[in-house]
Amino acid sequence: MITTDIQKTQALKGKDLLKLVDYTPETIEALIHLADDMKKNREKYFDALKGQLLGMIFEKHSTRTRVSFEAAMIQLGGHAMFLSSNDMQIGRGETIEDTGKVLSGYLDGIMIRTHSHSRIEALAEAANIPVINGLTDLYHPCQALADLLTIYEIKGEFKGTKLVYVGDGNNVAHSLMIGAVMMGMDFTLSTPAGYEAATQIVEIAKEISSQTGAKLEFVENPQEAVQGADFIYTDVWTSMGQEEEAEARLKDFAPYQVNEQLLSFANPDCKFMHCLPAHRDEEVSAGVMDGDASVVFQQAENRMHAQKAVLYSAMKK
Ligand code: CP
Ligand code: NVA
Repeated sequence: MITTDIQKTQALKGKDLLKLVDYTPETIEALIHLADDMKKNREKYFDALKGQLLGMIFEKHSTRTRVSFEAAMIQLGGHAMFLSSNDMQIGRGETIEDTGKVLSGYLDGIMIRTHSHSRIEALAEAANIPVINGLTDLYHPCQALADLLTIYEIKGEFKGTKLVYVGDGNNVAHSLMIGAVMMGMDFTLSTPAGYEAATQIVEIAKEISSQTGAKLEFVENPQEAVQGADFIYTDVWTSMGQEEEAEARLKDFAPYQVNEQLLSFANPDCKFMHCLPAHRDEEVSAGVMDGDASVVFQQAENRMHAQKAVLYSAMKK
């Protein structure tokens, strides 16, 4: 089983992971199976990326992405370098293309967290080593892979499972929506007016769902949206780079808080998901965040396992 999955992840060999939709549902599912195997059998993959180097460029803050990628590389026998844009010449105006060409001469892969998605595309075009998306304003694919692994662990399958995202139609929502419909899950997005997901990504998700049979819905009222939900997911109301809008967002998103009352409209065994960092009593009540339904720390751990599968598939020689 796992040998077949490794074969299916060969589509990533030497390639970038900028967004999930660049790969087939079979490849994404195989990555999840590989991540599951890597989590259960850590020693089997020890030395798999022996001597390989990953550069990790951060143009925004991070706890999970930084530490989980570095831990993943070390567990696979390689090494990771934290490269803060505050200390690099890109922070003083050197182009991302020149940076990509220079780093390609030293490293075997680059992970980057940046602002616009076009910036990661420019880096990937210039670099001749795999480039992995550690979050852009448009997508957060490694988060979605970890979330799918978490759902797989809890449910054992994707089809017939309903995931409802409540809150901002942001990078996390985009990747989650695409990943969910690729796996044939039923996905509902509940956002306030003015904070919907990007139209071009909704169009892609609709197209994929028509192929996989996933039920894709957009329901503005959160209490209606979560009916029949197996998982309710939320993210911060103000993403990195949107700090000036924080006050308006607090007001606009107030009816979208995931709290005990909202959870009572979902399935009795519904789980709560969040990519973290969380703001208790803003997008999620402290009771739900820290309650029995919460699987947020399982998700956080799974970042490392999912990324090990990505690094192994993209970088293994
Ligand atoms: N979920 C996530 O990407 O966390 P960090 O911002 O801490 O990396
Ligand atoms: N949407 C959030 C996710 C943080 C992991 C942001 O972009 O800041």
